[in-house]
Amino acid sequence: MRKKLVAGNWKMHGSLLDNDTLLNALNKGIAVLGNEANCAVCVPYPYLAMVQSKLQGTNIKWGAQNVSQHEKGAYTGEVSAVMLNDFNCTYVIVGHSERRMLYGESNQVVAEKYLTAQKHKLVPILCVGETLEQRDSDTTEQIIEEQVNAVLALAGVDSLSNAVIAYEPVWAIGTGKTATPQQAQDIHHFIRQGIAKQNAEVAAGVTVLYGGSVKANNAAELFAMPDIDGGLIGGASLIADDFIAICKAAHS
Ligand code: PGA
Repeated sequence: MRKKLVAGNWKMHGSLLDNDTLLNALNKGIAVLGNEANCAVCVPYPYLAMVQSKLQGTNIKWGAQNVSQHEKGAYTGEVSAVMLNDFNCTYVIVGHSERRMLYGESNQVVAEKYLTAQKHKLVPILCVGETLEQRDSDTTEQIIEEQVNAVLALAGVDSLSNAVIAYEPVWAIGTGKTATPQQAQDIHHFIRQGIAKQNAEVAAGVTVLYGGSVKANNAAELFAMPDIDGGLIGGASLIADDFIAICKAAHS
């Protein structure tokens, strides 16, 4: 049985004041849920120290939203995996569609980030997903296969035993348009099958999240699908009651 995971992606939101209120509420609401599912928040770099101090010893884990593929050096503005280790991060998101589209991260760069994260014992949350144009032109499976295969070619299929995949259709992110549970399930199944061609045991064990307008009122039906192991949550992760409700849905 795969354990479900609900990970919040705060994106470029937050302030010391707002985070304090949000984290206090999460601590209260998620502590009572137990450990049947995992919950985490992926926050902007400047707040890692804050989440570390407020969440350590709780059942909420934390992580970052990006990491450099390089170990260290003259890379102004970048943050290394070793630095994330300093704040005891469990997770790091790699290849979010906003990084791919707005910052030109290629499949190759994303694969390098994934590899560097794992080398430093961070669990990468590898985001994959198609745009609306790609879905309409029937290339969804091809796009996702390329995104996953770039990582498998560099890091090997066994690496997936310490990684999470998040299927996030770009047309569903921040738009209020969620993939139907069946649409999401179909792609999750496709991803798992592709991995199974290389290693069936790894495919059966890998956590595959759905992301894209997951809300308190649709989480349960998405999480009930056989290949959906939880969610990567943007907007709703900033609203304590909503995020707690989504975490609750993963516990039932
Ligand atoms: P959303 O974002 O939940 O606001 O659609 C999801 C994501 O981008 O990870």
